Amino acid sequence: MKIPKLPNAQAVIVHDDLDALSIAVAQRIDEIATLAIAERGVFHIALAGGETPHRCYQQLRKLDMNWQKIHLYFGDERCLPNGDNSRNDTMVRKTLLDHIVIPSANVHNIPAQLGGKAAAADYAALLSSVVLDLVLLGMGEDGHTASLFPGNPATENTAIVVPVFNAPKPPAERVSLGMNTLNAARQKIFLVAGAGKHDALEQILLGIGLPAAHIAAAEWHVDRSAITGR
Ligand code: 6PG
Repeated sequence: MKIPKLPNAQAVIVHDDLDALSIAVAQRIDEIATLAIAERGVFHIALAGGETPHRCYQQLRKLDMNWQKIHLYFGDERCLPNGDNSRNDTMVRKTLLDHIVIPSANVHNIPAQLGGKAAAADYAALLSSVVLDLVLLGMGEDGHTASLFPGNPATENTAIVVPVFNAPKPPAERVSLGMNTLNAARQKIFLVAGAGKHDALEQILLGIGLPAAHIAAAEWHVDRSAITGR
C-alpha cells in the first residue's frame, strides 16, 4: 500500500480498517496523556466530533487512564439544545463519559446552545489559559475539519474560538476552535476513514489548500478505504 505523502503531515499511518485505526489512536492518546501527566501533571485534549471517532472513544474507555488528571474539551460543537442527539458532546457522553469516572469539572462542553457568537466568547475565555496537549480531528468529504469549512469566513478567523454560520453540514450554526488554536496544540491527530474521504485526501495530495491541509505537523491515521477510494 503506497503511503501518501500528505503535505504538512508529521506522519501518515495507514490501517486496515476503522476498528484497527480506532484501537491505534486510543493507544496513542494513552501514550501522549501519560507523557503529559508525567511532565506537567495534567493532560488537556480536545475531542473530535462526527461519526469516525465513536469506536476510538469506545476503545479509550477500556484503557486504564488517569482521568483525574485529564481535561476534555471539544474541537467544535453544533448549535443545538443541550442534550440534543446530534450534538458532539452527546456522542462523547454516550461513547465515553457514561463509562468512565472523571470529575465533571474536567469536562468542558462548548455552550453551543447559547448560539455561535456567545458560545465562542465563553469558550475562548476558558481556553485563553489552556495549552492543548492534543487535538483529535476528523475530516469531512469536502476537506473541512472541526467546523472550519472551505470558503467559510470562520476558517480564516484568527480568534481562539469562532462562531460558524452557513455551515454546509447541518446544523448551519456551529462553534469551532479557530485554525490558529488547532495548530497551537502540542500534537494533532487526524482520524480519517472510509472511501468518502478519498477525494479530499487526493485534493490535499495535489496541494489544494482545504482546511484540513492547513493543520500543520499532524499525525494522520487513515484507513485503506480512504486511501484507495474503495
Ligand atoms: C462535526 C465534526 C466534523 C467531523 C467531520 C467528519 O461536528 O461534524 O466535528 O468536523 O469531524 O465532518 O465527520 P465524520 O467522522 O462523521 O465523517
